[in-house]
Amino acid sequence: MTYSYLQSTETSIVQQAKQLLYDVLFEPLQLPNTMQEQLKIQGEELYFVALDEQSEVVGVMVVVIEGQHVELHHAATRTALRGHGIGKQLWEQVRKYCTDNGYEQIELVSRNTAMSFWASVGFEDASQEWIERPEFVKHGIRHKAMKQLL
Ligand SMILES: CC(C)(COP(=O)(O)OP(=O)(O)OC[C@H]1O[C@@H](n2cnc3c(N)ncnc32)[C@H](O)[C@@H]1OP(=O)(O)O)[C@@H](O)C(=O)NCCC(=O)NCCS
Repeated sequence: MTYSYLQSTETSIVQQAKQLLYDVLFEPLQLPNTMQEQLKIQGEELYFVALDEQSEVVGVMVVVIEGQHVELHHAATRTALRGHGIGKQLWEQVRKYCTDNGYEQIELVSRNTAMSFWASVGFEDASQEWIERPEFVKHGIRHKAMKQLL
C-alpha cells in the first residue's frame, strides 16, 4: 500500500482526520467526542494527513501556530497501520513546513506511551515534570512537554 502525504483544509478531509483522532486518542479512554474541542489551544490549526489509495485518512498530525510559537498538538495513525512508517513520514511533512516557513522550534505535550516515538524523530524532554490530568491518569497515561530545535 502506498500513502500520500499532504496538508489539507478540505472540510471532508479535516472531518475524517478529527474522527481518526477521536477513534485513536479519546474513544479508547471513554472520553467524549468534545475532547478535542476542550483541549483546543489558541492559534491557527493546520492538518497534515496521510491518505491511503482510497483517499481515506489513515494518519494525522495537527499543528497549531500562534506567532512564532509552533505546537504539534495531536497525532494519530490508524491503529492497524501503526509501526509502518506513516508517523515518521507525517513528521517529515510537518518538519519541512516549519523549516520552509522559518520557524525555529516546535513543541508538543506527549503521552508517556508515545515519548519514544517523538524521541526517535528528534524531540527531547522540555521539562522533568509530568503533567497529570485525572481523566488520563486513571488509564495510566501521563504527559510531558517535549521540544525540538529545527
Ligand atoms: C505515535 C504514533 C502517531 C506514531 O505513528 P506510527 O505511524 O505508528 O509511527 P511510525 O510507524 O512512523 O514509527 C516510527 C518509529 O517509531 C516507533 N514507534 C511508533 N509508535 C511508537 C510508540 N508509541 N512507542 C515506541 N515506539 C514507537 C516505530 O516502531 C518506528 O520505529 P523504527 O523506525 O525503528 O521502525 C502512532 O503510533 C499512534 O497513533 N499512537 C497512538 C496515539 C498516540 O499515542 N498519539 C500521540 C500522542 S502524544
